[in-house]
Amino acid sequence: MSSRKQANLLNERISLVCLVFLWISPVVFATNYGADLVKDDNERLFLRDVESHILETERWLHEQAGQDGTDGELFERSRRDPHDLLMQFGFTHMMSDRMANAVRVLKNVSSTYSERTLSELSGPAKRELCSAAGVDYTVSDCPSTSIYRTHNGACNNPLNVNWGKAFTPFVRQLPAAYADALDNPRLAKSGEALPPPRLVCLGTIKDAEKDHDNSADHWTLLSMHFGQFLDHDVDHSALENVNCTCEITPKCLPIMIPSNDSFFTAHCFKFQRSVAVPDEDCNTSPRQQLNQITSFLDLSQVYGNSETQGKSLRDLSKGKGLLLSIDDPNSDVGHELLPNDEEHKDCIIASPQLKCGRTGDARAAEQPGLASLHTVLLRQHNRIAEKLSILNPGWNDEKLYQEARAVCIAMWQHIVYNEYLPPLLGSKNMAKHGLQVHPTSYLFGYDPHVNPSISNVFATAAFRMGHSQIPTTLLKLDRDYAEIEHVKLDETFFNATHLVTSPGHSGMDAFLRGMIVQKLLTIDLLLTAPITKHLFADPEDGQGLDLAALNIQRGRDHSIADYNAWRKYCKLPEAGSFDDLLDVMSEATVSVFRKTYESVNDIDLFPALIGETPERGQLVGATLACLIGEQFHRLKFGDRFWYENGLGEQAFKKAQLLEIRKVTMARVLCDTTNDVPTIQPYVFRVADTGTPPENAIKSFYTYSRENHFPGDAGDMPGFFNGRVSCQGDDNIPELNLEPWTEGYVDVTEDDGLDVPFGG
Ligand SMILES: *[C@@H]1O[C@H](CO)[C@@H](O)[C@H](O)[C@H]1NC(C)=O
Ligand SMILES: *[C@@H]1O[C@H](CO)[C@@H](O)[C@H](O)[C@H]1NC(C)=O
Ligand SMILES: *[C@@H]1O[C@H](CO)[C@@H](O)[C@H](O)[C@H]1NC(C)=O
Ligand SMILES: *[C@@H]1O[C@H](CO)[C@@H](O)[C@H](O)[C@H]1NC(C)=O
Repeated sequence: MSSRKQANLLNERISLVCLVFLWISPVVFATNYGADLVKDDNERLFLRDVESHILETERWLHEQAGQDGTDGELFERSRRDPHDLLMQFGFTHMMSDRMANAVRVLKNVSSTYSERTLSELSGPAKRELCSAAGVDYTVSDCPSTSIYRTHNGACNNPLNVNWGKAFTPFVRQLPAAYADALDNPRLAKSGEALPPPRLVCLGTIKDAEKDHDNSADHWTLLSMHFGQFLDHDVDHSALENVNCTCEITPKCLPIMIPSNDSFFTAHCFKFQRSVAVPDEDCNTSPRQQLNQITSFLDLSQVYGNSETQGKSLRDLSKGKGLLLSIDDPNSDVGHELLPNDEEHKDCIIASPQLKCGRTGDARAAEQPGLASLHTVLLRQHNRIAEKLSILNPGWNDEKLYQEARAVCIAMWQHIVYNEYLPPLLGSKNMAKHGLQVHPTSYLFGYDPHVNPSISNVFATAAFRMGHSQIPTTLLKLDRDYAEIEHVKLDETFFNATHLVTSPGHSGMDAFLRGMIVQKLLTIDLLLTAPITKHLFADPEDGQGLDLAALNIQRGRDHSIADYNAWRKYCKLPEAGSFDDLLDVMSEATVSVFRKTYESVNDIDLFPALIGETPERGQLVGATLACLIGEQFHRLKFGDRFWYENGLGEQAFKKAQLLEIRKVTMARVLCDTTNDVPTIQPYVFRVADTGTPPENAIKSFYTYSRENHFPGDAGDMPGFFNGRVSCQGDDNIPELNLEPWTEGYVDVTEDDGLDVPFGG
């Protein structure tokens, strides 16, 4: 069958699906499970009874909450408490709070009315129960047209409108591994307790001056910063909103610190469990965790995760579709900054005019590299909106905002798959999971049966691999790429002073220049002290938190299965003994796991993943490549708004797609910084110096269209990444927005765009 026919067929099928969906939706989505859907009169009477019980229990729980523990045990209140900062970072949305409470109410209902009665209820009755307790996953307002994404991710998938939506549970690839199959963290296979997380860290993870040693040759630290920024687009689990103590309670799972600890003197790290939420059928066990943000790669960290939040970030006053911003109070020339977050309790402010920035994500101010990337995207949006307003004087604020947003998201997806993922996963895994971007064609591979939702294991273990890439210091460079200073990472947590512009250089530019020069660190069991000893500490060299211990405890809190189970999931041989781990780990690494755990079936996933030896030509080991590759496959093929998708009313024009494919992160940095005169075309890779070899390709745009990279040795044969001018150099092509002009006549099929993916 010709590809065109195939495409038409698919198109028809999708229209049919949409038709059916539109036809059903008023019934299913608007009735809110009215009484006519509930099975019978008995059931209805029962529900009324339960509902009054729910009200009573809610009142009771509310009173109980006032008695939850709180203490200032170890940290003086005049300083920022690391636990408070962790809560700030963990940011629990009001909605998450309500959902967590609903689970408690439902459990109470279960114990009062007995499980059996409840399990006999019909589906609609169960969902009505859930709704009465405060959780309603029903989507009642899918827009009639779908040219643009919703902010909360709803309605992306016509068959399952909740897939990828904010405030839905994570998905699981392996069943939860709770000790009691419901709620309690797993035990060792022997039935004994697992070693406490801090003891695991002391046994397996080493502190390192992660600056000079262990660099992953060729690649830049941008990959680490970008990875964090990307993570904040796709997952954010909610924590119980409670001040924990060192006591285990239903909401708290403290990390006990051994009395002979080599660094910490505290008794424990206080630890809020992640909130539990019911699934779509209102089942509350096994315990499932909540993703507070949209799963899609939709720049929700910039635009927010609900229509309301989205609106609150917009500047509606100029009619140009802009995002809110402030002028840099310390700079006469220069671009805008993020608007101040007036509600941020624990920010070290630079001045009354310059505080921690407000964005679509509550974690933006955690470190200045992250805040800088947020600022870059804000500027990029506003730049594009301004240009569109000149090309299309007739467009109103809403239209300009949505079009600029769509362009930015498309660029973002392109950069993630064309620049960030290839070095991380290597060519082999990029091909295996279908992640390679196509040089010319539309992608006719959107599959409404692929669920894009972030999996629990990705959020809780796999994508935390970036913690091993965090350096001890962040490099700041001037416009000639000469060193200004190394800033100690532990001085930067929620500290806005670093973004101040001082004579000669802007704080943000200096960090951005630094991250495309500083070398990326290898993923391994060496973590830097600012995150294993001083995380969120104030003063900065004081006792903070241990991020690795938090990760391990979070894995247990979420009941992530042990490493061996995930090996099996990823089609690696199941290890019968510690020695069997030698296929993917060094002798030394296997030996630390052997000393720490009783059984090869006990190993926590996070330390094992970063303990795997990266395979040749990639930055991650085998299991990590599998888990990350699988998630990015679903984020691509399960996103109807995927930028290459040629079907549907949201599809870009061919000419627009050609322009989006020209975009590189280098171009984005050129366009959004104040003073970066020269830059290497592929900013995730260190700049080449010296004389380029003959016939070397100097444009990353050209090279990435013609080559799958990197090679087995992490190399890019035939490419020369020398710095070029940001202005008017063909090696960093600019995005031409003309195809976005109203009435623009699209390029024809002869222009080579119609070759479908794969042939
Ligand atoms: C359930 O809620 C009632 C108040 O409605 C309370 O008295 C009871 O102790 C709760 N039971 C459990 C198991 O939480
Ligand atoms: C936790 O304690 C802080 C003071 O340390 C207080 O401001 C806050 O309201 C408490 N939060 C809860 C949920 O009790
Ligand atoms: C600290 O105590 C634990 C037992 O709680 C023991 O296994 C470990 O070897 C001790 N570490 C040191 C450095 O003494
Ligand atoms: C905040 O940053 C400034 C430097 O810009 C530094 O002097 C100060 O110690 C930092 N504070 C903390 C608590 O990290």
